[in-house]
Amino acid sequence: MKFMLMAAALRQGSFNKKLIAVAAKILQSQGHVLDLADFAEFDVPLYNGDLEQQQGIPSGAQDFAKRMQDAQGIVIASPEYNFSVPGILKNLIDWVSRIDAKPFNKRNMYLLSASPSLVGGNRGLWQLRISLECCGARVYPSMFSLASAHQAFSQEGSLSDTNLSHRLEQELQDFTEFSRRLSA
Ligand SMILES: Cc1cc2nc3c(=O)[nH]c(=O)nc-3n(C[C@H](O)[C@H](O)[C@H](O)COP(=O)(O)O)c2cc1C
Repeated sequence: MKFMLMAAALRQGSFNKKLIAVAAKILQSQGHVLDLADFAEFDVPLYNGDLEQQQGIPSGAQDFAKRMQDAQGIVIASPEYNFSVPGILKNLIDWVSRIDAKPFNKRNMYLLSASPSLVGGNRGLWQLRISLECCGARVYPSMFSLASAHQAFSQEGSLSDTNLSHRLEQELQDFTEFSRRLSA
């Protein structure tokens, strides 16, 4: 099966980018085909209804929609900003939601977060789930939040805590099964 993965982060040393790389390695080892996207590929202006009327949907949003459509499941790792969704991700969702074909509808999605905090950014994922479900996405019930992310990765980029690593492996396997059944 094909999965699209993306961290909703722009900074180079992003913990969410590191976490999505761990998820990518696991999915690859489980035999899946990956589309590893970089958030910077989906450059869009701030949503503005006038701009939409004059110029239509920006190419960054259309590209994102197409890449989602080509995958049986989408994995997003998102930071938590002020207990909520980072503006860059919410803005992209808002643009993509304006596409007539409703690209989020019936997309299978699994949400991850990483944060230096003890909660791991989990509160932001609950907010993110609301917008995605509003747009028709099938958001997998369980979500994976990595706490103390500044101390959680080994030199090679894997998760230092093997229990957490196994949990992520299991959840990804369960998510792929969820996606397989719903895509059938
Ligand atoms: C504007 C802003 C708001 C933040 N709010 C939260 C927050 O509510 N909860 C949290 O755990 N971390 C918060 N943080 C810290 C981020 O979790 C931290 O910067 C994290 O490393 C960002 O993700 P990244 O490493 O993928 O870039 C915030 C950071 C910024 C810049």
